[in-house]
Amino acid sequence: MKRVALLISGGGSNMLALVRDMAGDHPARPVLVASNDPAAAGLGKAAALGIPVAAVDHRVFGKDRAAFEAALLEPIAACAPDIICLAGFMRVLSPDFVGRFKGRMLNIHPSLLPKYPGLHTHARALAAGDAEAGCTVHEVTADLDAGPILGQARVPVLAGDDEARLAERVLAMEHRLYPAVLRRFASGNRTPVFL
Ligand code: GRF
Repeated sequence: MKRVALLISGGGSNMLALVRDMAGDHPARPVLVASNDPAAAGLGKAAALGIPVAAVDHRVFGKDRAAFEAALLEPIAACAPDIICLAGFMRVLSPDFVGRFKGRMLNIHPSLLPKYPGLHTHARALAAGDAEAGCTVHEVTADLDAGPILGQARVPVLAGDDEARLAERVLAMEHRLYPAVLRRFASGNRTPVFL
């Protein structure tokens, strides 16, 4: 049974989708939900589900990223995860931190990578007049939003879409894609999932 630590920054909708899927017959189970924001709503939701939680406020550390990551590493190391899922985690992690979990840290990004790494992905897809948008689950490497792709799902861009409507459509697909990828990844299969 693989042990999964999940990192969030806000509501944690992807974290909840993953945790709910792991509640069934699944090769992994959640052992920690941690956040860089003590006020992240997802922490309360995870705690209500009986999952250990931790919060390390990045603001306390100012510009000292290394000190923040050292503090964040404590509760993560204490639960000895096999896999780390970044799920709406909005802090950029250093190559040193990422390197500690090489090949076993996943992230979901709201675009069809390699298109639109970084922020404001939906606005960029709309501005480009793309007919499709979507989301990608990838291995986290030192290069932001650029690791090996483990899954991708496409949604249509519809007439009249604004950023909020497209984001909602993509997020619903994220909640299907990420659990499908984690199931496969946790069973040792790295074949990408395409929905
Ligand atoms: C989503 O757009 C997701 O793609 C990105 O963070 C946003 C919030 O995710 N990674 P969640 O609702 O906190 O899981």
